[in-house]
Amino acid sequence: MAIQWFPGHMHLTQKAIAERVKDIDVVIELLDARLPGSSANPMLADLTGHKPGLKVLNKQDLADPERTALWLAHYNDRPATRAIGLDASQTTPARRLIDACHELAPSRGGMAKPMRVLICGIPNVGKSTLINTLIGGRKAKTGDEAGITKLEQRITLADDFYLWDTPGMLWPRIIVAKSGYNLAASGAIGRNAFDEEEVALELLDALRQHYAALVQARFSLDAVDGLTDERLLEAIGRKRGALLGQGRVNLQKAAEIVMNEFRSGKLGRITLETPQEFAAWVAAGELLEAERRAKKEARAQKKHPRPDRGAPPAAPSGAD
Ligand code: G4P
Repeated sequence: MAIQWFPGHMHLTQKAIAERVKDIDVVIELLDARLPGSSANPMLADLTGHKPGLKVLNKQDLADPERTALWLAHYNDRPATRAIGLDASQTTPARRLIDACHELAPSRGGMAKPMRVLICGIPNVGKSTLINTLIGGRKAKTGDEAGITKLEQRITLADDFYLWDTPGMLWPRIIVAKSGYNLAASGAIGRNAFDEEEVALELLDALRQHYAALVQARFSLDAVDGLTDERLLEAIGRKRGALLGQGRVNLQKAAEIVMNEFRSGKLGRITLETPQEFAAWVAAGELLEAERRAKKEARAQKKHPRPDRGAPPAAPSGAD
């Protein structure tokens, strides 16, 4: 089952971003360095009118450094885009962020033309941590001008540098199934919107392909090869004493263990996708989405025949 999660407040955030972006010079998107493609909002470019963008790959301390380098090169190759890797708890990320924004919008700066930056990202990506680090011990200054609502907060990073913070947001339809699983594994999706066992099995499937040695070592398993995902989850549960009685494994508990250890980095430095893999997932997702729409249209046409209205509008792609 594809995972979807777009509660009402995210719709309001989307509207607030579209409104605010008119007066913005650079849009910072905080990505999860362990799932840079899946954590990128596929609607952002449309939403922000293609403003210069800074992609910050956060939690890079938890990600595979080789894959982080691939993703940084991927984003740095794009026009009007810069990418940097970050650990939001580092004490001095402000300088790198500010420098990157000045590179993207060189005409801004000074009291007459302060730099105006919007920061957005999925839930749990580390935005609060980053902002707290940026402002240090100071209390975040919130603007009292019209239009600044609880949905957004203005923070003064320097006399000529304003940062607008927005609440964590996903997008109305996740068309890449693997992205849904990766987002859930990272903690970006509300717990009630997915089945933990299913997500843990997908996570193990991805881990066994690239990080089998880490899984084997962390859970003291004799072998990972040759086990199905279900057997692997069972073996992990057994090793950790997640039992229900009569020798049965508590798979729910085992799933929680796998996800928690991935999230906290106890499993090791892991990145669940490369730019090439992600591009292939998006292509497959778009194909399925087009088929789904065509079927839906055909059903509607059969039910209520009407003159040809032309092709339906394209769905937002998963590739930002
Ligand atoms: P949000 O505002 O985007 O929703 O995210 P938030 O800053 O609350 O961060 C979510 C979790 O990610 C927090 O952990 C935070 O400590 C952790 N985090 C943020 N940035 C980084 C980073 O660069 N590296 C690592 N390793 N972790 C990061 P938590 O367990 O939910 O809370 P806590 O243990 O910090 O209290």
